[in-house]
Amino acid sequence: MEIKIKKATPKKRKAKPTDESKLGFGKIFTDHFFNIKYKEGQGWYDPIIEPYRPLQLEPTAMCLHYGQEIFEGLKAYRGQDGAIYLFRPTENIKRMNASAERMCMPLMDETLFLEAIRKLVILERDWIPRGEGTSMYIRPTMIATEPALGVHSAGEYLFFIVVGPVGAYYPQGFSPTKMYVSEEYVRATKGGTGHIKAAINYAASLYASRIATKMGYTQVLWLDAIEKKYIEEVGTSNIFFVIGNELVTPPLAGTILPGVTRNSVIKLAGYFGTKVVERPISIQEVISASENGSLKEAFASGTAAIVSPVGQLHFRGKEYLINDGKTGPLAEKLYNEILQIQYGFKKDPFGWRVKIRNAEKAKKG
Ligand code: COI
Repeated sequence: MEIKIKKATPKKRKAKPTDESKLGFGKIFTDHFFNIKYKEGQGWYDPIIEPYRPLQLEPTAMCLHYGQEIFEGLKAYRGQDGAIYLFRPTENIKRMNASAERMCMPLMDETLFLEAIRKLVILERDWIPRGEGTSMYIRPTMIATEPALGVHSAGEYLFFIVVGPVGAYYPQGFSPTKMYVSEEYVRATKGGTGHIKAAINYAASLYASRIATKMGYTQVLWLDAIEKKYIEEVGTSNIFFVIGNELVTPPLAGTILPGVTRNSVIKLAGYFGTKVVERPISIQEVISASENGSLKEAFASGTAAIVSPVGQLHFRGKEYLINDGKTGPLAEKLYNEILQIQYGFKKDPFGWRVKIRNAEKAKKG
């Protein structure tokens, strides 16, 4: 299928941000977006990159009523050589299709998906920031658009991709976060949707997040829904602990997101000689490790957050400082290594970078 491109007129184009230190996350979007429609019996049709605009939806569009909505998050980078790269895009594409399968939504052809990202990022390449820790965030999304109120999987969908320049996910940048361990509310349970990137997971997490934020914490650290005993993830990232000499992270057992950055951290840490163990970790084990001094550090991982150190845990009314509230050496090393691979300052031992455009030649004169 050929992707049509309809460019915005120069007059309609927005001013690009001038201060890359103030980009923040997910507030600025470029001049164009990709979209494609789906109808049962017809399949996907009319792929187009067109000027960014509001969507037109019927008030009865099923995504608005029954929550059939999934998304992904990946990034494009301006390499130190001036070329443009994606980081492990196939992982996100496959995960989006796994999300679609679970939510009874249509799968997207992987080649067309990657081509849509490639064409959109290349068209918007002047929006890719160059500063350290900055990138172009890519947000593929699928929503049910069929106008109907009976509860069933919809027969019509819209898939779209928006992109925009981003800096650090947290306003404080790469510095230790404070986590609130929730025992009252849960994020996901076995057999549910915690392992896919469904919008409903994030909506369901907001109430506890609001409580945590009001109390001064950055994020909620979720426990398993049945026993409220085992650590799962942070709503926007996966979680890692350094206990003794091991890097420990909860296993992919159907309730946490199989993060692309989680997988990259596991592979990179192993490559650097750290023993990495995927196993259930109880909150009690972490608290005991904090008390007996074997909890060396903790950090979260995600596309948006990259690697973000955790400096403090709140559990049952008590505060537990991790590494004296400071960024730990492994979090720092992994953060730097991942960024340096993404920008091409370091060799890419796993072949994660995908070049989508060569550096432009400097203009003469
Ligand atoms: C990401 O890390 O890309 C995410 O999707 C997490 C969050 C911003 C929802």
